[in-house]
Amino acid sequence: MTRSDLSPSGQPTAQPEVRRARSVERLVRGQATSDGAGVRLTRVLTQDLQRRLDPFLMLDAFGSDNPGDYIAGFPDHPHRGFETITYMIAGRMLHRDSAGHEGLLQNGGMQWMTAGRGVVHSEIPQQESGVMEGFQLWLNLPAHDKMRDPWYRDVQAADIPRLRTEQGVEVAVLAGSSGGVAGAVTRQATEPLYLDLHLPEGARFEQPLDPAHNAFVYVYRGELRIGGQVVPAQRMAILANEAEADGVVLQAGPQSRALLISGRPLREPIVQYGPFVMNSQQQIFEAVRDFREGRLGGYAG
Ligand code: CO
Repeated sequence: MTRSDLSPSGQPTAQPEVRRARSVERLVRGQATSDGAGVRLTRVLTQDLQRRLDPFLMLDAFGSDNPGDYIAGFPDHPHRGFETITYMIAGRMLHRDSAGHEGLLQNGGMQWMTAGRGVVHSEIPQQESGVMEGFQLWLNLPAHDKMRDPWYRDVQAADIPRLRTEQGVEVAVLAGSSGGVAGAVTRQATEPLYLDLHLPEGARFEQPLDPAHNAFVYVYRGELRIGGQVVPAQRMAILANEAEADGVVLQAGPQSRALLISGRPLREPIVQYGPFVMNSQQQIFEAVRDFREGRLGGYAG
């Protein structure tokens, strides 16, 4: 791929340089499913991709203006062994958990929950009509952190670090860093990068990526081009891990929005049973037993 290192004005772009861009390895269409008490959603990152996209375990996209698709929400359920990151584009959802955390997640806000050794939580819509749209990403924890204390943080939209590139791309930096802006949350073991990008038509966006990190782009409005590949809306593009590639270059179709997500693979065994993700079957038995015996926390509410 050829590219200019200069902006149209002749000045170096403020954006970081990508000398060789990753290509698209494959496009994935999510699977329609439902979870919780009947919330309709699209599972974009499915269990069969956990190894390929290590350290990410799941990505769900939900979006509907029909309350019947979301109203029942996600009543009390447990998690152990990983982190959940919920990013709300539109709508209001109340989170409560057994570690005593409570937070209202609303338009443009993010909630980061580290389940660690275990929480029981609920996520219940606080609206009876209108649009509910957002994403939930599951990020694995390294073996030595799976039984750590639970942790929780709410980040309202106004507090999410943002930047605007010279090409007019608006970037919300949920995790990691982009264009010199540090994100709302950082993690040492997995170094997650989580960007929400709004791209005007024709804009180009560059992001350096460690070649060893697994990365994908989910287009949720409009259309992007990555290398020679067109990526339409509601598709995830898995980016190839090419030793010589130092980042990704996106080119926008009309008014596009996309998530760009990458992280350092843990390369540890992944054993999932529903809401528990551990390293061995034995640890899964223990998680199920601890949950049944109330050791993942009762629910005060
Ligand atoms: Co949950």
